[in-house]
Amino acid sequence: MTETAGRNRMWGGRFAAAPDAIMAEINASIDFDKALYRQDIAGSKAHVAMLADRGIIAAEDALEIARGLDAVLAEIEAGDFAFSRALEDIHMNVEARLAELIGPTAGRLHTARSRNDQVATDFRLWVRDALDTLDAGMKDVQTALVEKAAEHARTVMPGFTHLQTAQPVTFGHHLLAYVEMLSRDRGRVADARKRLNECPLGSAALAGTSFPIDRHATAAALGFDRPTANSLDAVSDRDFALESLAAASIASVHLSRLAEEIVIWCSAPFSFVRLSDRFTTGSSIMPQKRNPDAAELVRAKVGRILGSFTTLTVVMKGLPLAYSKDMQEDKEPTFDALTNLSLALAATAGMVRDLEPDPRAMRKAAGASYATATDLADWLVRVLGLPFREAHHVTGSIVAAAAEKGVSLDRLPLSDMQAIEPRIGEEVRAVLTVDASVKSRTSYGGTAPANVRRQAAAWTRRLKAEGKPRGRGRRAP
Ligand code: ARG
Repeated sequence: MTETAGRNRMWGGRFAAAPDAIMAEINASIDFDKALYRQDIAGSKAHVAMLADRGIIAAEDALEIARGLDAVLAEIEAGDFAFSRALEDIHMNVEARLAELIGPTAGRLHTARSRNDQVATDFRLWVRDALDTLDAGMKDVQTALVEKAAEHARTVMPGFTHLQTAQPVTFGHHLLAYVEMLSRDRGRVADARKRLNECPLGSAALAGTSFPIDRHATAAALGFDRPTANSLDAVSDRDFALESLAAASIASVHLSRLAEEIVIWCSAPFSFVRLSDRFTTGSSIMPQKRNPDAAELVRAKVGRILGSFTTLTVVMKGLPLAYSKDMQEDKEPTFDALTNLSLALAATAGMVRDLEPDPRAMRKAAGASYATATDLADWLVRVLGLPFREAHHVTGSIVAAAAEKGVSLDRLPLSDMQAIEPRIGEEVRAVLTVDASVKSRTSYGGTAPANVRRQAAAWTRRLKAEGKPRGRGRRAP
């Protein structure tokens, strides 16, 4: 393996000259795929142990290679590793350093494999770790939301449709809505992980290998459920990344909605919640300002995350089987999206724990805009036996009368109501307060404080019970 005229020492056998500088630049992936170093070395160690077990290479060679790989890993972790663009990618950087450390024995590592199955394996391992990190981050946001919800099971706020005050709800109920969304997000992450968890290693370049390898052994050693069943599929598909990015996109949409609500709630006209100095920034010109930058950035992240999903989908579209270099473009968007979602989750958990609601401001807003009109209509149905459509009409006239007087529904004199519907009695007032309104919403999934307390307690139990490991392959290699 001598280097001649700058030829690549990994594949340069039939080449007379080094690549053009621009070729080298467009081809090199080391600047970003060095993030795969841990996965790459873990994959190589599993491979070389299997080669020795199957008698494909000598046991002492395997031992030397494994020790050498550990030394390379230690160098990288210590920041002592000189990554080389001339060596293109993480796979060749690691192998070249291995050769420097242990000599020609290093050349036996690449028996019965190719960079195609190697990168497919490394990338799956990276995405798997990222999915586990996302799941933990989502769980933490759920935990923060549930804690806040339990504290505010009775805190009344306006519920909105069209961002117009609709009916009073409880703040706890509102927060638990996001806990449900995150639960489905976690389900999508778990599904993606399940389908991802098959090992491409040993598929070699595209057709498999003539060496008597044991793919089940390497799959198990790397925490995969099984080896992939078709070598062409294994080296050329990236749907595990697409699926993860799709799940990440949906989750980031959910986070953006909560972030937007935090921005609205923090605004001076609303003043429903306050974020502390820890999650806000000041303005360089307006001293009174406290800007919810973290929420705004979480709201924005969906742009790059969904963008990454689009990028990789378009990269993969129309690619013939099996591997093409196009697929090297899979990593940057995936790394970027999943890392940023993780950051957004951490920021969201932080904000949820930090935010302090102002129950008085919320209650006041909940009582404004005739938010209990539906309660009046329901009372007319329940007590006076009016058909709902008629009750709706009567209530509309009463709201108009209150609006004309400039008073809330519960302050409108009884005589004004009776002028519209003579059978209305004093007892109607009991249903016109915001507290009575939320308290009455006891239907399954409704906003009544009793429901919210029960749901928050159920979620607390459920999240606690999750502590147990989910089976093999859960931990990073
Ligand atoms: N750096 C490459 C990638 O990320 C590794 C696989 C290269 N395979 C090849 N046949 N050139 O896709």
